[in-house]
Amino acid sequence: MRLSPDTIDEIRNRADIEDIVSDYVSLKRKGKDMWGCCPFHNEKTPSFHIRPDQGFYKCFGCGKGGDAVTFVMELEGLEYVAAMRHLAQRYGIEIEEEELTSEQEEQQSERESLYILLNFAKEYFKDLIWKQEEGMKYGLSYFRERGFSDETIKNFDLGYSLDQWDAFIKAAKKKGFNQDFISKAGLQVEKDGKVYDRFRGRVIFPIHNTMGKVIAFTARTLKALTKQPKYVNSPETEVFHKSKVLYGLFQAKQAIRQEDNCYLVEGQTDVISMHQAGVPNVVASSGTALSEEQIKLISRFTKNVTVLFDGDEAGIKASLRGIDMILEGDLNVKAIVFPDGEDPDSYARNVGSTEFKKFLLHGAKDFINFKVELYARESANDPLKKAESIKEIVNSISKIPDPVKRTVYIKECSKLLDIGESVLITELNKLILQSNRKKLRRDKPAFLPEEVLQDPESDTSIKLNLEEIIQLQEKESIRLLLNYADQMLEGTGFDLQLADYFFREVDDVVFTHPLYKVVIEEFKSSIEKGTLPGSKYFLHHPNDGIRELTIDLISRKYEISENWEKKYRIFIKEELEVLKDASFTNILRLKFRIVQKMIQDNMAEMKVPGNSELQEKFMKRHQHLKNIEMGIAESLGNVTV
Ligand code: GTP
Ligand code: MN
Repeated sequence: MRLSPDTIDEIRNRADIEDIVSDYVSLKRKGKDMWGCCPFHNEKTPSFHIRPDQGFYKCFGCGKGGDAVTFVMELEGLEYVAAMRHLAQRYGIEIEEEELTSEQEEQQSERESLYILLNFAKEYFKDLIWKQEEGMKYGLSYFRERGFSDETIKNFDLGYSLDQWDAFIKAAKKKGFNQDFISKAGLQVEKDGKVYDRFRGRVIFPIHNTMGKVIAFTARTLKALTKQPKYVNSPETEVFHKSKVLYGLFQAKQAIRQEDNCYLVEGQTDVISMHQAGVPNVVASSGTALSEEQIKLISRFTKNVTVLFDGDEAGIKASLRGIDMILEGDLNVKAIVFPDGEDPDSYARNVGSTEFKKFLLHGAKDFINFKVELYARESANDPLKKAESIKEIVNSISKIPDPVKRTVYIKECSKLLDIGESVLITELNKLILQSNRKKLRRDKPAFLPEEVLQDPESDTSIKLNLEEIIQLQEKESIRLLLNYADQMLEGTGFDLQLADYFFREVDDVVFTHPLYKVVIEEFKSSIEKGTLPGSKYFLHHPNDGIRELTIDLISRKYEISENWEKKYRIFIKEELEVLKDASFTNILRLKFRIVQKMIQDNMAEMKVPGNSELQEKFMKRHQHLKNIEMGIAESLGNVTV
């Protein structure tokens, strides 16, 4: 999809800012400027203005500004090329493409043909509802009985499919569409070598893309008691990818931007009823699990999502993952739970527009409050359940990419649950570290723990938990031992095997991680007997955890050499060459962290009020430890790995 430079020029020349903005905003002239209410934020007095002679717009309220193309991109939520196409269409400019390969050309014309056919289908289903006896009798009256106004029915292009085997296929063929395309558009089903209409005797909800083109359909049965599924959807096609579409976004996008909030519901009937109740900023995931792409789609229009849940507790818990995903997408989440047995559609009809809006306004809860309440009932008298719910909530907080926001939520959580912030922070750090490590394990070589911790991608503003760091360093020790225990470290000072050197230096250190501790003990006792356990021994260890650990640590050696050679210019050969330094720094770093931990513990003791003699002792100890820390830091500073 490359536009030729000529086309781009022509579009830019023709796209008149006044013209385009006037499509969305009513403008009044004041001198050289035109003024109106900003379409990007909600305001009553105009702070948005355009300068037609210079071709730009600017809002003094929200700060948005740009030219005709960025205006269309922002307001329609389009990428550059799509915005250019939109403008070209508006001005009737023929689009010249840079030569496409014949394959690309074919694909493009195929997509175009699908759009044309899908649009034909939409019109066909619509016509039936308004102009044909069966369609009016069953389709139109069904929607009217559900309380949809004629205006709403038209606005959402709702329709009806005849209760016949192939009425649509016949109509489409008569119009000149070939069978192959009808199949590619997902409008037919094939069974026993015969083809039938996919949608038969159902009401039809067209699914639009962000630009308003119809790309698929979902169709509801009219029968209350039937073995047939309630909804039948178009299959995935060239133009319809379920996970990249939100039902109703086309009709909602302007309102989402203006309200700076998007309501997320389950069903298309919820979307439609809410529109009719005067809440147009709503989209539906259509009963499937929310996808990352759908969240990105929303974030083009707003950073605030309010998830509306039907009142069934099991259902809510099943969709909690959605909330975490929205948080991960750096969006703000609120949630509203409807009374039991109600969905947004039924509730809007039952209580009416005014009450419904009030309910949304007052019912919206921050995701933390929402989760606290969700778990409150079952955890009231059960401390174990309470611990579990705390973990659940902190887990959600850990998904938020912004550390400042995390801090705010931790404070709130601490207040709500009446739990010390530090406890929550410890738990939070643990989770973040875990997920960072998971990420890093995929992305980074294993034998650079210090670098790993200072990875620019990982969040340095998080106070890392010393215990965790010590265990990382312990793990690095185990890795070196498992891979290189018998390697000679030649050179000044020590002509020793790595294992001997290691235990000479850290004989007195007790490993904190239970698995690593076992490995170390077994190494020690073997060495005392004059042998070295090889990695094979640990590979067949009776303890599952140790076997897994060993596989992890020794297989990574090969992974690194193959995958990271080019990228990081790190070779196993190289590690062998720097092994002496590697074991030296590993030991120093381990000791360094242990001393830091001792300082931390000592300081904690110091803060406990006691007699002055005792405080004196802690102070001395502090000084002593600080000196050691500095000494190691200096040695570490001299090391070049
Ligand atoms: P109404 O019963 O018409 O009010 O629809 P609803 O939106 O309340 O339906 P429900 O709460 O049962 O389901 C929520 C959403 O899940 C629907 O809007 C559909 O998108 C989807 N869904 C429900 N039933 C089916 C089904 O049988 N097949 C498929 N593919 N999707 C379904
Ligand atoms: Mn419903």
